[in-house]
Amino acid sequence: MTQDELKKAVAEAALEEVKKIIDKDSIVGVGTGSTANFFIDALATIKLDFDGAVASSEATRERLKAHGITVYDLNGVGTVPVYVDGADEVNAHLHMVKGGGGALTREKIIGACSTKFICIADESKKVDILGGFPLPVEVIPMARSYVARELVKMGANPVYREGFVTDNGNVILDLYNFPIDDPLSIEQKINNITGVVTNGLFALRPADVLLLGCADGVKRIT
Ligand code: 5RP
Repeated sequence: MTQDELKKAVAEAALEEVKKIIDKDSIVGVGTGSTANFFIDALATIKLDFDGAVASSEATRERLKAHGITVYDLNGVGTVPVYVDGADEVNAHLHMVKGGGGALTREKIIGACSTKFICIADESKKVDILGGFPLPVEVIPMARSYVARELVKMGANPVYREGFVTDNGNVILDLYNFPIDDPLSIEQKINNITGVVTNGLFALRPADVLLLGCADGVKRIT
């Protein structure tokens, strides 16, 4: 199977899980990226069975709207029963590195508001230790150099993602050569640097379910 076929398979598996959770009044949380895009296309096939969605990025908002799915402002939404999103890396505890597409902050906000977080990923994303994929950190622009110096003190090699501005008007530092041996503590430490908006470690609020696309089928890991 190609990587895209694996992504489509996990998106379809997520749809089956979502169908069991939602009703006509439900708002579905929707992530960002190529795997999430397969999920959006699958979700559109049942668009009459739920009320609408909250989007973790402008790109996702546009794709949902193009399918005729109503997109709500999260502030007006009571609960998000289920959030479906991809990941750049995921470990056995369902801690994730996310934000390769730069949408980490809104993704983390929707994840925090969600009752069930379903991570969809092809098997290339499953790792023993997080940090092989550079960890994104969203930073207020004027704090970029200060935050970078603080991250160097933590042993990371921060690289400014040139020419990229997040949906929130901020910049990204990608942390190279930074094995994440204690995800819970590292997530908190990076959050505590003044000027950091969010980091792409999703350990304090991990996924509840991982649907992993493998050559021999979709594995469901909890
Ligand atoms: C975007 C993300 C994505 O979930 C992550 O980058 C995975 O993307 P893809 O499904 O395209 O591999 O966190 O900010």
